Amino acid sequence: MLKRMVVAIVIALGAPAGAVVAMPPGQDTALPRLVKQGTATQLVVDGAPFLILGGELGNSSGEADYLRPFWPTLQALKLNTLLAPVYWDLTEPEEGRFDFSQVDGLIRDARAHQVRLVLLWFASWKNSMSCYAPAWVKTDTRRFPRARDSSGRSLEILSPFAEQNRQADARAFAALMRHLRDFDGDRHTVIMVQVENEIGMIPEARDRSPAADELFAKPVPSALIQYLSRLDTQLAPELRALWAAQGRKSAGTWEQVFGPGPATDEIFTAWHFADYVQAVASAGKAEHPLPMFVNAALIRPGYLPGQYPSGGPLPHLIDVWRAAAPSIDFLAPDIYFPNLAEWCRRYTRSGNPLFVPEALRSVDASVNALYAVGQHDAIGFSPFGIESASGPAAGRLAESYTLLAGLAPIVLAHQGRGTMAGLLPEGADEQRQPQHVLLGGYVLRVTYERQAGPSLAEGAVAPSGAASPATRWPAGGLVIATGRDEFLFAGTGVTVTFASSAPDDTNVGILSAEEGAYENGQWSHLRWLSGDQTHQGRHLRLEPGRFSVQRIRLYRYR
Ligand code: DGJ
Repeated sequence: MLKRMVVAIVIALGAPAGAVVAMPPGQDTALPRLVKQGTATQLVVDGAPFLILGGELGNSSGEADYLRPFWPTLQALKLNTLLAPVYWDLTEPEEGRFDFSQVDGLIRDARAHQVRLVLLWFASWKNSMSCYAPAWVKTDTRRFPRARDSSGRSLEILSPFAEQNRQADARAFAALMRHLRDFDGDRHTVIMVQVENEIGMIPEARDRSPAADELFAKPVPSALIQYLSRLDTQLAPELRALWAAQGRKSAGTWEQVFGPGPATDEIFTAWHFADYVQAVASAGKAEHPLPMFVNAALIRPGYLPGQYPSGGPLPHLIDVWRAAAPSIDFLAPDIYFPNLAEWCRRYTRSGNPLFVPEALRSVDASVNALYAVGQHDAIGFSPFGIESASGPAAGRLAESYTLLAGLAPIVLAHQGRGTMAGLLPEGADEQRQPQHVLLGGYVLRVTYERQAGPSLAEGAVAPSGAASPATRWPAGGLVIATGRDEFLFAGTGVTVTFASSAPDDTNVGILSAEEGAYENGQWSHLRWLSGDQTHQGRHLRLEPGRFSVQRIRLYRYR
């Protein structure tokens, strides 16, 4: 089994363009905004950093009357934020006539339940397609041209190359944001907005409409070339390699600058999608400058651009998106694959703040949230289809969110300081080969136990046979170095031994281990742990079967 090193310090490779919104002079400074703290970017709401304990609604659950019976479920999950779609076709049923009753209903009910909203603007594109375009757009393909495949067939995808398309979307989005300013500008129920949803061209790597072909034969915009030259060593390695392979040209067509092939088709597609999104997002921000982001469908192993949505806000295209869409504050991954830690690393490698707007609604979502927040200073986490959550996945998420809500003031104070790490098994179900986490002058050797069920009492024997993936107990958590020789651990199914990170023969022992709970950042003592619970002073253990919090003090001896 591979021995994996987890280094707790996230190194931001330079300030990304558009990662932090500077408030324009004269704007309401109390609007939700993104602010840097150390290497982290935090979402500040009503003047204080805010951790999104979220869930995203299913696509067709965004009408207030339909959603009403699901609010008890959402409350039981301990969400503090709901990610909810706003539909272009319902918002602008006739050109220029706006109906905001859908979004107003959501806002009213969110306020009544003391939950914030992240709105998702389902407009030109929803998972590549244009199913949320209003009928007056869908039926007028002369005015609102479609993308075409290489056989010339028209697709139900608005072409990103049509000025009329972008203007229509931008006008509607500006109207929505203007309405939010008037309806919610002083309440901040809505704290961020996602622009479009899982943009990307399918089933080919780029649009083959005549307008697209014409632009593909033209030079790469100088703004992109200048961006490549300026960022150079900080570029995503995949993009930099393509540019270098063609001799780092400072002018030329797309194929001259990046070489022929699907990778170049995809860069071209990403530029034009991002350019279109910039027009939409900037029109909205001019009315009400909330933080805005785009989300991505990730790449299934072995798939090529066009098989997966080509040109979306993916980590290998982050520079293209940043160069073309400075009004977008960050790119966000929808993580349904099991290698969540790897996608989190890829999305944060150049200082992009991590926010996971969609995640698989499994029992593991509970520990994945702790990991994202602990390891990558995530702004928040949000399983998808949240109103349908039930059974063990719902139970574990509520437990994890309760724990995170109590810890939030401490977690937020530590973000960006190099004093936190996330704990998550990678690869195998169980991880007996320790991960090594370097933190606070110690090496933490971490192993994970996943199989024991929730009813397993201390000292009981585990039932034979593996639990099913849907019901097995998750393992993972986070650790914070709270002071010299002191750590706080939160999570489940985690065992940790300690060693000095200094290259000497000092031994490390446990001075005290205490179990308790946090509420609003305030600690309350439950019990002191020693004897069997620390393996007679050898380790810390967050037992499987429940979520818990421990504070531990270490000492060194010879
Ligand atoms: C990802 C999309 O972004 C969501 O809107 C939804 O379609 C889910 N996939 C379904 O799994």
